[in-house]
Order: sequence, then structure tokens, then C-alpha cells
Amino acid sequence: MKNIDSKGHVTGKSLYLDDIPVRQGTLHAVVFFSPVAHAKIKNLEVTDARNYPGVIDILTAKDIPGENQIGGIIPDEPLFAEYETDYLGQPVALVVAETERIARRARQLIKLDFDELEVITDPRVATEKGWLLTPPTIFSMGEPEKKWSHCKYIFEGSVEQAGQEHLYLETQGAYSYPAEDGRIMVHSSTQSPTAAQRTIAKVLGISMNQIQVDVVRLGGGFGGKEDQATAPAVMVALAAQKLEKPVKLVLSRADDMQITGKRHPYSSDFKIGLSQDLKILAYEVTYYQNGGASNDLSPAISQRTLFHTTNSYYIPDVKATLYSCKTNLPPNTAFRGFGAPQGMFVIESAIAKAAMELHVPASLIQKRNLLRENDLFYYGQTAKQVNIRKTWKTLCDEYHLQEKQKEIESFNKKNRIYKKGMAMMPVTFGISFTNISMNQARALVHIYHDGSIGVSTGAIEMGQGVNTKMMQVAAHTFSIDPSRIKLETTNTSRVSNTSPTAASSGADLNGNALLVACNALLMRLKAFVAEQLKASKKEVEIVNERVFVKGNETDFTWEKLIRQAFLNRVNLTEHGHYATPVIHFDVEKGKGHPFAYHTYGTAAFVVKVDVLRGIYEVEEVDIVHDFGDSMNQSIDIGQVEGALVQGIGYMTMEELSYNSDGKLLSNSLSTYKVPDIYGVPKTVNVMPLKTSGHTLAVMGSKAVGEPPLLYGLGVYFAIQNAMREFNPQFASFDAPMTPEKVLMGLYPRSKSVPETTKSEKQLLKTE
Ligand code: MTE
Ligand code: HPA
Ligand code: MOS
Repeated sequence: MKNIDSKGHVTGKSLYLDDIPVRQGTLHAVVFFSPVAHAKIKNLEVTDARNYPGVIDILTAKDIPGENQIGGIIPDEPLFAEYETDYLGQPVALVVAETERIARRARQLIKLDFDELEVITDPRVATEKGWLLTPPTIFSMGEPEKKWSHCKYIFEGSVEQAGQEHLYLETQGAYSYPAEDGRIMVHSSTQSPTAAQRTIAKVLGISMNQIQVDVVRLGGGFGGKEDQATAPAVMVALAAQKLEKPVKLVLSRADDMQITGKRHPYSSDFKIGLSQDLKILAYEVTYYQNGGASNDLSPAISQRTLFHTTNSYYIPDVKATLYSCKTNLPPNTAFRGFGAPQGMFVIESAIAKAAMELHVPASLIQKRNLLRENDLFYYGQTAKQVNIRKTWKTLCDEYHLQEKQKEIESFNKKNRIYKKGMAMMPVTFGISFTNISMNQARALVHIYHDGSIGVSTGAIEMGQGVNTKMMQVAAHTFSIDPSRIKLETTNTSRVSNTSPTAASSGADLNGNALLVACNALLMRLKAFVAEQLKASKKEVEIVNERVFVKGNETDFTWEKLIRQAFLNRVNLTEHGHYATPVIHFDVEKGKGHPFAYHTYGTAAFVVKVDVLRGIYEVEEVDIVHDFGDSMNQSIDIGQVEGALVQGIGYMTMEELSYNSDGKLLSNSLSTYKVPDIYGVPKTVNVMPLKTSGHTLAVMGSKAVGEPPLLYGLGVYFAIQNAMREFNPQFASFDAPMTPEKVLMGLYPRSKSVPETTKSEKQLLKTE
């Protein structure tokens, strides 16, 4: 089945927040934010701005009737800075005017008087100063400190990783208008309508039932709208409440890049110990997470870094310590992978370092340590239905990786300007929210008496195809044509207390809730047929819109059945609730069974580096991925391809750059490069691993949203392997690997540019 949104997207008919027709008298808002990263606020001067023609109001912390507090997990983030600003981009006021243009002009007239304070952007410096967002977290198993003496080889090193801008095509925004009796309606581009509703209630000083949040779809979220869509929603709701007018706020790209948090940069230290036969015996790691100015989702992201510290490997003795550091940057937040990329990049770097020192391919160490059935993850969960070795082996066999390696070797012997490198990237990703209570969902199904169906769930469509999957779940359960089913907007008045659509669990959680509702309706319909036709419930079946009793077709079609059921006053509406069974976790001990299951897969990268210019090309990526029993292969493969490219961008060209004053320098698309059509791999092969699926995955179809982003890490090591063909001394773990860094890495002081042969000169000329 095709993604039901495809046609609307390519014809431009799909509605996004900014397309919602606005009401008469709608006002427009822009955010005035701090121009400095850290300062005591002395005075906020808004008189000139307020007097600017067309300006209606300027809202500040003083206009908040409830609490000036939007922190999701920990209440440490004001909606508007009042006494102190903690990052450049922190909202201080909201300018509301007749048009957006007027609001922008007026914003320039606001003056903030302040005394600058010390700015810290480096998480290690923050740790030294005791600037921590939460106390350090340690997860461990065994005692690595007692294991070092048993290790034949021990390697240590440091790893740097920059952040990543979400760059959703649709920027953050919200639209709100007052309804009767102080009620507030909010349209929002959020992954988490309930978080918006809860926070609006807190800030506006009203109860949650006074607020209705509605979401049509997002033009991408990627985690950036799990928590940070809340602030714009609260701002417009606050303005709508105070001014009793509709208010709209859509961030410009520049404002969005400046104000919102990104993927967390990390700086880490590792120590890895191996036996003579390359078994990893012990691993110790310390992460310094750059959290930004407030917690946002950092505590949950920290946990997922710790959960994925050993990636796809069994290591008997592990200790991982994480410092979540407060810095004067925008609060960093969820981004596809949710801390896992940072954890996995460090263990892969440790393995790469060991391989370099020992002069063996990293893939040998990787392969030797891959998880097996019943191995213990160091957080206490026993690995079950482990498919990592199968994906690895299938990849090697189906894509003839040994031969490819030989071709690369002979290519490298023959060429001096171009060097090729290969790397393997196995991925094991846990599926479930790391916060156990979030693993629940609800769905509401109406069968209308013409036989058509309206489905509401808590899932947010953001391009990942969850609505199509929901339609498939309902169509499959009733055995009816999907065209009878309509997916409603996600709305807090229809489906309440939703978890964000995140953790790759949107389809699993909401799909399972929807199954509960559909199955209840189906049972009720079967009971009705049984009663009408004097049969037993078990003998009734609905197949392709026809009703059978004991295998014999009756004269009930789907439409007739529904019509008759309605006339006989059968309830045709059902609400389903689902909570993931099995999972539990003791945060204090760092032990439990936090994941419903794991998703597995392995990727192989071939890259070609131009050693004269430092530029590179990803020639081929081959992937074997465990989709379980995929319910929609075209959507799922699309997820793998998209996530892969996003991961490659993260590891190669996307370079966030802040100066020491905490100012984002790469604040536009001219300085922040993302993969374009020329940047994607020339060939991408995605092969589904043949499995029967997992019982906790919706209809056996495993979660796919985030895991494939992790494949992208492999490109770093493939580039590094290619570079080492030219400069064998090169060993640095500092992502992203931009062409500039490649060039610097290829030429240490002693190294000169290679002499070129005649044919190579010719090649250079033609290029
Ligand atoms: N795919 C598209 N096209 N757009 C997105 O914003 N977000 C990703 C992933 N795939 C995203 C996407 C992230 S971060 C998550 S957690 C999952 O989709 C969420 O959706 P799911 O739980 O339904 O997989
Ligand atoms: N993933 C995404 N979002 C979350 C998680 C998670 O594991 N836990 C809490 N919020
Ligand atoms: Mo995804 S980072 O869990 O929204």
C-alpha cells in the first residue's frame, strides 16, 4: 500500500500548520530573544516597539497568569527569561501585531539592558565548574577496573561529536484562538500534543480540559518537535488568552535555527581492553553531554546513550558514566536516535582505535564480539531473538563483501589520488520509551452507519507514514477496503494523555491500541451476525467485506452489516488502550528490562576519498535490516534510506559551529550544509532480513523510525580507512568528518602532495 499522503504532498494539497485558513482578525507574533548567551537582565525596554503602528501588545514574563515554566521533565526552563538569560536565542518577549512584517520591524526596537556573565559552551569546562543539569549517572556490569590486568591489549582515547540541526522542512509554529468560556484552541506542529496541552495549562493557569490541541501533520519533526514545539504553542495560547484574539506564530528559518536546541554534542573518554583473540573483555567510558541551558529531554537522552553504550556487542565488564552538562547554548533536545548515536560512536571509535593499533581490520573485532542469543545487555536485559549475526552474515554473503574488499585493495594499489575505504556498521537499537510510563497509547474508532470509519489515535504523522500504517491495521482487522477508512487529525479532545510520537514507537503503541479497539468492534459485529443468523460467534467471519458463517457466504455485505447493526442499536464506537507488557526498569540500580524488543541490522560502506582535495564520495551502502514482518515495505525502506542519509550528513558535512560567546555561526543554509542529491550515496541497497517478526511489534512489523540513522556512523570509519591508505598515521575521532578535516588529516607536516602520473593528470584535467 502506498503512503496515503504521497499524492497530497506532490500536488501540494497536504495541509500544514501554515496552510490552515486563519480566522478574521488573526494577529501575528514574532519572538524577541536574547542577543547574548549569558547575562543578568537589567531592563527590558519595549516602549518604542509598543508604540509602533500596528503593534497590539508585547508579552513578557509579567503577562503570565500561571507559572513561567515550560520544563518538560525538570522544571528549570522559563517561557520568557526574566532576570537572567542563559543562551543566545532565549525568548524574552513576544511581539504581537497586525501583520508579521510589523511584528518583525517592532522587534528591532526592543532594547535589552544587561550585565554580561561568563559564557560556557564546553561540557568539560562545565563539569569542572560543577555546572551539571542532573547528578552524574552511572550504569555498569561487572568490574572493569579488576579486568584490565586480564587484558592482553588496552587502548584509551577521546572522542568528539558535534550536534546536528533538525532542519525539518516546516519550521516550528502554532496557531491559537480563544473559544467560549475561556477555552483555548491550539493548532500546533508538535510531536507531543499532550505536552503542549499540559504546559499551556500550567502557564495560563487553567486546567487541561480547557485546552484543545489539534495536529494535522508535521513537515518533519525528527525529535525537534518532541519537546521544543511546546514553547511556540504556549506563546500563542498566552497571547490568545490575554488579547482574546486568534494569534499565529511561525518561526522564520533563521529564528528557528537560532532559538531551538539541536542534537547534543558530546565529548567522551574511553578505555577498552581485549584478549589475545580479540574478545572485548572490559570497557569504560565517560560521556560529557553538552545539554545546553536547561534540561529539556536531556535526562531521557542520557539514559539512551547509556543503554546503547555497547551497541551490538557483548562485553562482560562495563562501566559508563555520563555528565549532563549545563552550558550557555540553546537546550539540546531529542533527535532521531535520541542519544544512541553518541554512545555507539564512542564504542565504534574504541574498536577502530584497537584495530589500527593491532593492524587488523575493525570488522574482525566487531564480528568477534557480536551479541548472541541470551547474552546479557549490561543494563540487565537478556538478549532474545538476536538477529545481529544473521544480518551481518547475510550482508557479507549477498553483497560479496570479501570480493569488494579485494577490489578496494587493488584499487588502492593502483591509485594515488583516490583512495577507497570500507567499513561495517552493525546496529542494535532498543524499542520502547526509556521512561516506562510513556509506553502506553489510546485509539478511538467510529464506524459510521454508512460503513465508513473514522480512526483517531495519539500518533502524529510527520512523514514517517504512521497514518498509512494505522489505516492498514484497521483495514486488516475488519478485512475491508482501506478507502473506507479516514485518519482523523490528532486531537487531545478525542484521544487524551498521549505520549509523544517518538522513540520509534508511534506505530507499535498506537497501532496496538487501535487493534484493541478494532478487535472489540469486530467481536461485537460477529456477535450481532451470530444472533441474527442463529449461529455461534466463532462461526462468523468477515472476509473482503463479505460475511461468512461456517465458511458459507451470507447476504450480509459490510455495508449491510453495519446498517443493520446500527438499526439494532449496536454500539459502533470503541476506544482502545494499550500498554506495552513485560517492560520494567529500576532507574536507581540501572537494571531491568526496558525494551519490548531490539531492532537489528548491519550496513557496509564503500567510500572514495580524493587525497588532493579532501573531498569524498560515498560509492555504495549495502544494508541488511531486520524489519520483522514489515507491514509496509515501501514506507519502511523509505525510512531506512532517509535515516541513512540523515546519519551520513551528521557524520560528514553538517557542522554546527558556535563561537566562544555562544553565538551560532552556522545559522543558515549557506554555512550549514546538509546532504543534497549530490551528497547521497551513489548506490544504496536495502535488503530485508527474512524473519517472522516480533510479537510485541504491531502485526509483527518492527519499529523502523530511528534505528537506521545509526548506520550513518559507518561512513566516518569508511572515510578514515580510506585516509589511512594515504596517511597511515591518521587516527582521530572528531565528527563530523568534513572535507576540510579530511584534508588536514591527510597532510601532517611531513607529508607532501603525491606526484601524479600522466594518466592521473589527464583525469584531474577532465574533472
Ligand atoms: N521520518 C520522517 N519522514 N519525518 C520525521 O520527522 N522522525 C523520526 C522517524 N522518521 C521522522 C521520520 C523520528 S525521530 C522518530 S522517533 C520516528 O520517525 C517517529 O515515528 P514512529 O514512531 O511512527 O516511527
Ligand atoms: N525516545 C524518545 N523520546 C523519549 C524517550 C525515548 O526513549 N524517552 C522519553 N522520551
Ligand atoms: Mo524521535 S528522536 O524519538 O522523536
